[in-house]
Amino acid sequence: MTKTYFAPGRVNLIGEHLDYNGGLVLPAALTIGVTATFTKRADNKIVLRSATHSFHNQIDLSDPITFNSKNDWTNYPLGIIHQLIKEGHAVPACEIIFNSNLPEGSGLSSSAAVEVLTAFMLLSQTESNINLPWLANFCKQVENEFIGVQCGIMDQFAVAMGKADHAILLNCSTLEHSYVHFELNNYRLLILNTKKPRSLIHSKYNERKAECDEALRILQTTSSIQHLAEASMSQIDVIQDATIKKRARHVVTESLRVKESVKALRFNDLSTFGRLMNASHASLKNDYEVTGKELDALAEEAQQLKGCLGARMTGAGFGGCAIALVHHDAIPEFKHMLTFKYQAETGLNCEIYESQIGDGVREIKN
Ligand code: GLA
Repeated sequence: MTKTYFAPGRVNLIGEHLDYNGGLVLPAALTIGVTATFTKRADNKIVLRSATHSFHNQIDLSDPITFNSKNDWTNYPLGIIHQLIKEGHAVPACEIIFNSNLPEGSGLSSSAAVEVLTAFMLLSQTESNINLPWLANFCKQVENEFIGVQCGIMDQFAVAMGKADHAILLNCSTLEHSYVHFELNNYRLLILNTKKPRSLIHSKYNERKAECDEALRILQTTSSIQHLAEASMSQIDVIQDATIKKRARHVVTESLRVKESVKALRFNDLSTFGRLMNASHASLKNDYEVTGKELDALAEEAQQLKGCLGARMTGAGFGGCAIALVHHDAIPEFKHMLTFKYQAETGLNCEIYESQIGDGVREIKN
């Protein structure tokens, strides 16, 4: 018998590069994502296929599993299978066929979706009540240890725990979370895809994480803070190195912006939230330096257009996507103008999608 499962992509509304600094983030799961079919096999093999990639892979469950760049996208499900076996979970022989409708390489967390989907699907064969926050943490560890990206927990948590029409306010140091109704009134959340291939993203990402670790180490020589996101503006004054200080400043100011955003959203004050989005982008550009020419062109041009309350990059940066809050009457003109201006500035054709906020990982029953 074949079963079908789905895990969404995600956007982060605000609170960027705060998860691995123990801060507050505000992501939301999308209605687009990765679907997979699961069919048991009678032998000892796992076969991994994709409807969107020609590369496929097959392993024998008794063979050791290690990361290998030749394994391409299958490293993500392989990392999950490896860790499940290592922790003593039953992993059945099966064929899994993945199919994604997330735009390729766009930074909407297709890798977290594949990880969470694989773990959820395999565990569902033997367990009925999967603890989703635990599952998110399990997948994050696979990304850190097997894939080698020192990411925080935000993406996996959003993919596992998403709720339609809500953002998730997540404290990444305690995993305490609550849902914030994302009431859009006459506005729409648009995803703006730079279509810039995201090269060097993993090494740059790990570099930012190391810079934040260094900032924390310096602050801990004079204070007892546990996470960089707890620092105050006056505390970071002791940091001498200009680059490390800028990184810390982004973390401190972005943390304040998340709190203000949640307040604004609870009061249905989208204009204030829009201004905070713009300020977040500026901080990611000037202090954290993870935007780049294409994201800056897209977000900054969007911010100037009629009907747009705010725009910012979302996710890791270095290419990928931005998000914008745009009045629904202004959308056709916004799309037209932004596409034109972005093309003139970068020579690239952006893509613009209207996004809906959906639920987290689940089985799709026919
Ligand atoms: C990537 C990582 C997340 C998070 C964001 C930046 O998406 O996977 O853990 O750090 O970047 O906020």
